[in-house]
Amino acid sequence: MKLFTEIPEIGLRPLEKRDIPDLARCANNPRIAHFVRDRFPSPYTEQDAITFLELQLKEGRPEQMAITDQDRLIGMMGAIPQTDVYRLSAEFGYWVSEDYWGKGIATAAARVFTPWLFDQTDLIRVYARVFAFNPASRRVLEKSGFIYEGLCRDAVIKEGKIHDEYYYALLKKDQHED
Ligand SMILES: CC(C)(COP(=O)(O)OP(=O)(O)OC[C@H]1O[C@@H](n2cnc3c(N)ncnc32)[C@H](O)[C@@H]1OP(=O)(O)O)[C@@H](O)C(=O)NCCC(=O)NCCS
Repeated sequence: MKLFTEIPEIGLRPLEKRDIPDLARCANNPRIAHFVRDRFPSPYTEQDAITFLELQLKEGRPEQMAITDQDRLIGMMGAIPQTDVYRLSAEFGYWVSEDYWGKGIATAAARVFTPWLFDQTDLIRVYARVFAFNPASRRVLEKSGFIYEGLCRDAVIKEGKIHDEYYYALLKKDQHED
């Protein structure tokens, strides 16, 4: 299974064992870890990549995809389905290798990933939480059709500092408005 984006050679596909070295190399960057949850390892070793891949394979999560350039991993994009009364929602997350920042790749990937997700699952809502000091990620969401839903004050402690957090969401029904 492969999703193609509007950018030549940039696509999305499920993670594979052969991605482990690229995953570890691309993810091992404190400038990525700075913008995501503390559970994202930093430094990010090959063992961390193996542990992540094994977890994805064990849980059979097709919603976690490698972003690829000529079929080689250059980032990750995924959605984590929620539980209980939130079971029709999923939390959206992504990162792109720093060498590829600013080329429209995260936006192009989100634009094909979210319709695919709504098509393949029962999900009706995909939401993202963005630290207030991450304007690039806010732009990605805005350019991908996500709607700003609000600011949660003092929601995050990252590297010892407290920050606000922005909420964005895309609804399945938003996609059929055109
Ligand atoms: C956020 C991230 C995924 C963006 O990936 P990308 O492929 O570079 O994103 P795109 O090129 O599609 O879009 C980035 C947009 O942010 C803008 N941007 C970048 N830095 C910015 C800044 N400091 N202030 C404002 N806008 C900024 C770019 O100009 C671009 O917008 P434009 O097309 O209107 O010019 C990437 O920077 C990354 O992996 N960051 C670390 C992990 C992360 O933040 N993940 C998301 C957690 S919510």
